[in-house]
Amino acid sequence: MNVVESRDLALAEVARAEDHSQLERARVSILGRKGTITSLLRSLSELPKDERPAVGKQVNEAKQSIEKAIERRREELDSSLSNTRRVDSVDITLPGRTQHQGSLHPVTQTLNAIEEIFVSSGYSVVHGPEIEDDYHNFEALNIPENHPARAMHDTFYLRDGMVLRTHTSPVQVRTMETQDPPIRIICPGRVYRRDFDRTHTPMFHQVEGLVVDRGISFADLKGTVTSFIESFFEREVELRFRPSYFPFTEPSAEVDVMGETGWSEVMGCGVVHPKVLSMSGIDPKEYSGFAFGFGVDRLAMLKFGVNDLRVLFDNDIRFLRQFG
Ligand code: PHE
Repeated sequence: MNVVESRDLALAEVARAEDHSQLERARVSILGRKGTITSLLRSLSELPKDERPAVGKQVNEAKQSIEKAIERRREELDSSLSNTRRVDSVDITLPGRTQHQGSLHPVTQTLNAIEEIFVSSGYSVVHGPEIEDDYHNFEALNIPENHPARAMHDTFYLRDGMVLRTHTSPVQVRTMETQDPPIRIICPGRVYRRDFDRTHTPMFHQVEGLVVDRGISFADLKGTVTSFIESFFEREVELRFRPSYFPFTEPSAEVDVMGETGWSEVMGCGVVHPKVLSMSGIDPKEYSGFAFGFGVDRLAMLKFGVNDLRVLFDNDIRFLRQFG
C-alpha cells in the first residue's frame, strides 16, 4: 500500500471535478465508506503493530490534505458558478426598471378644456383642411387680393393658389356655405404663419368660434367671451375689449386679460361683416353673427405660467413631466 500514491491520485481527481456533482462523486470514491482512503485506514489493522503509528499518521495527514483540497475546490466552483449566473441570467444588483406614466401634452389638455367649455354650452366642434385655397382663407373673409390685411398673416404659399391656412376662419366659411343658421360652432386646429420668436411659432393652435342666428349682437359676443375666459382660468379675470380691425368683422375688438406682467392679448373678435355672411349664402338682413378666434398655445402659456411659447414644441421630457 502506497499512501503517497493514493493521496496524489485522490488530489488529482478532486482537481479534475468540474462541477459540484463531480466533486461529490470524487469525495465519495475517496472518503466514502468504500473510498480509497477509508480502505487504507481500515487496512491499518492488518499491519504489524509497530508499523501502525507511522503509517496511520501518514494516512491521516493524507486524509486531511484531501479534505482541504475538496473544500477549496468547492469554493472555486461556487464562485465561478455565481459568475456564470451573473452573465447568463438576472443580475439582481441592477436597479429595477420603473415604468413611466405618460400624460397628455399641455396643449392637448388646454384644447380639451376649451372644447369642454363650449360643448357644454351647446357648440359643435368642426374641423377643416390645413391646406386651404386662397378663396376660403382670404377672399371669402373679405380679404381680396392685394388687400393690406394679407400682410398681417405672414402666409406660407403653396402651389396652385393653395396656402397653409393662417387661421381656422375658413372652417367657419365652409360651415356657413353648407349649413343654415342657427350656427353655433368652434373650429379648433393647427394654423401656420411665418413667424418665430418667444411668443410665435410657425405652427400653432387656434380655436375660432362662430354664432349666427337672428338678433345676435356685440353684447352676446361680450358675454360669451367673458364667461369663457372665466371658466377657462377658473377665476374672475380682469378683461378689456380694445377696438381693433379685422376685414371679416365690424365692429372688431381684441381682448386682453390682466396677468402677472400686465395686459396680455388673448383673442380677436367682432360682429361678422354682412359681406362675409352674404358671400357664403346667408342673408344679412335676416341673420347676424359674431366670431372670435384665439391661440390655444398662448392661453396654455398664460394658464401654466410658461414664458416661452417655443418650449411647448421642444418635446423636452423634463418640461412635459410637469404637466402629468
Ligand atoms: N381670424 C383671426 C386671426 O386669426 C381671429 C379672429 C377670428 C378675429 C374671428 C375676429 C373674429 O387672427
